[in-house]
Amino acid sequence: MDKIKIILDCDPGHDDAVAITLAAKSPKIDLLGITVVAGNQTLENTERNARNIVQCLGIDVPVYAGCDRPMIREKMTAGDIHGETGLDGPVFAPLTKELEKEHAVSYIIRTLMESDGDITVVTTGPMTNLGMAIRMEPKIVDKIKQIVLMGGAYTNGNVTPAAEFNIIADADAAYVCFTSGRPITMMGLDVTRQVLCYPSIVERMGKIGNHASKLFVDLMGHFCKSQKEVFGWEGGPLHDPVTIAYLIDPSVVEVKPMNVQIDIRSTQSYGRTNCDFFGYQQLPATADVAIGIDAEKFWDIIEEGLRLYS
Ligand code: RIB
Ligand code: CA
Repeated sequence: MDKIKIILDCDPGHDDAVAITLAAKSPKIDLLGITVVAGNQTLENTERNARNIVQCLGIDVPVYAGCDRPMIREKMTAGDIHGETGLDGPVFAPLTKELEKEHAVSYIIRTLMESDGDITVVTTGPMTNLGMAIRMEPKIVDKIKQIVLMGGAYTNGNVTPAAEFNIIADADAAYVCFTSGRPITMMGLDVTRQVLCYPSIVERMGKIGNHASKLFVDLMGHFCKSQKEVFGWEGGPLHDPVTIAYLIDPSVVEVKPMNVQIDIRSTQSYGRTNCDFFGYQQLPATADVAIGIDAEKFWDIIEEGLRLYS
């Protein structure tokens, strides 16, 4: 079976780092490139973090820096969760992995235009890079096979009661992507909050004993501590890897087609993914929204992914 070609657009970010780890070695995925956006931290931090992760894992994937701020709203970051560097916790060797010279938005446009329309764009941060690419070159829309994102929620948000971070951090970019007309699969907080990385999970992955599992343990050390401080949970919700796990084994989540509209107009609910769960409005579905997750299968996918590293 052909590998799934993906561009992974992210804002490392501890959970983004696990998504990279999972995607890079999966026999089912061809990770063409990593594009980075400001989000969890400033672009200066997130692009450096992406290069550190790639170098630490020993994977040969190009890293491209993209937009350092949202399309319209003021920039926001998540230092309370990810720390001042955006990847507090792990200690990396001196960084030699170089950043590609091409801007991420240009890379996305060029790669999609040169493709046969067989590339999946995975976003695990604010959707600024993809939104800008769609606006700069609308011809790429028909070349996007599908968009798989971590973001949004049909229940409560995690920045405001209404909105999840990746969406509220650039709701206008999310609006551009969600109105593109391309197939969208949304992994929202509704399911990512069901895969909490408890100490027993960290211990399980640590026993693998390779460099990828050590990175996982070092990442979770900070990530879980900050999630407990902020949300009081005993384990950090491993949001971003749900996108990759879904590509590896779609049966890990249950999805439901819904009409999803991004709120870019209101103040109190700005950045909400308004998901018409019951179809009240009788509008066409615009996204497949994850409504359930097999947590046991998810952690098995994570463990299998870490074991692929020597
Ligand atoms: O709300 C969680 C999302 O925001 C995750 O992608 C996390 O990495 C941050 O980007
Ligand atoms: Ca992220």
